[in-house]
Amino acid sequence: MLRFDTIASLRQHLAGLRVSQSIGLVPTMGALHDGHLTLIQQARQQADVVVCSIFVNPVQFNNADDLARYPRTLDADCALLETVGCDIVFAPSVDEMYPAAPSLTLNFGALETVMEGAFRPGHFNGVGLVVAKLFNIVQPDKAFFGQKDLQQVAVIRSLIRNLSFPVELVRSPTVREADGLAMSSRNRNLTPDERDQATTLFAALTLAHDLLADGQTPAQAKAAVGDFISARPAFRLEYIEIANADTLMPADEVLAPGQTAICIAAHLGKVRLIDNLVF
Ligand code: PAJ
Repeated sequence: MLRFDTIASLRQHLAGLRVSQSIGLVPTMGALHDGHLTLIQQARQQADVVVCSIFVNPVQFNNADDLARYPRTLDADCALLETVGCDIVFAPSVDEMYPAAPSLTLNFGALETVMEGAFRPGHFNGVGLVVAKLFNIVQPDKAFFGQKDLQQVAVIRSLIRNLSFPVELVRSPTVREADGLAMSSRNRNLTPDERDQATTLFAALTLAHDLLADGQTPAQAKAAVGDFISARPAFRLEYIEIANADTLMPADEVLAPGQTAICIAAHLGKVRLIDNLVF
């Protein structure tokens, strides 16, 4: 596995490869876990050359504490990437990616008005900017993103369409711990007690799913989840939403199979957790 930390050196290396080989990109912020590694494995199957970027993108953090606390484990990450056959790691510095603060802003329209868009103003601008830069630097044939961040998938789909990037977007299922907790780099910041309680999020999603499957309306399922979370004072619910899984716009009724997403965000101690189920 090769490691690059400058844009120019990575571009030069990839220029030679892309003549005859397809390139798969897995953008990450590091602190890698099995969710990330599954994306790498998928890229491994679908592309000749697998590039993983590791960059804690300051522009997408709307909370300075969250950015400061974000785990950074580059050496361990590289060791893990070796085990799943990643070819290239791109781990640039902040100065390399942003020699000056970006003056361009991106707005994803309706996606900015719901859930992560509404609760994390500016977040998708930062995600869009860094992914657009990575697409320009790496010029991948395919890019791999996790369903864990379902609204981010919709943002990237919009980015690709709006800016005509010749990139195929691949959405990969959420990888979970044995007790249902979605794997996340931020889980490392939970205390042992919080970690035990964190499975509540998946239980809440499962509750909503079962109620909808029983014929209850999204409004009824959301109300039940609200009660379920408020009975657990360690949690502060930010939102529970039932939405179209592609557009992320709220749904008043259950949609066709595979089209309905139940999305949740809640604070547990100092950690903000998100998760979703598509059914
Ligand atoms: P990060 O949170 O590191 O996630 C990198 C990729 O891994 C994203 O596509 C995310 O959806 C996916 N992922 C995270 N946890 C997962 C899980 N449990 N199962 C499956 N996939 C999972 O998302 C970002 O970084 C950043 O916003 C980024 C796209 C890199 C732009 O900075």
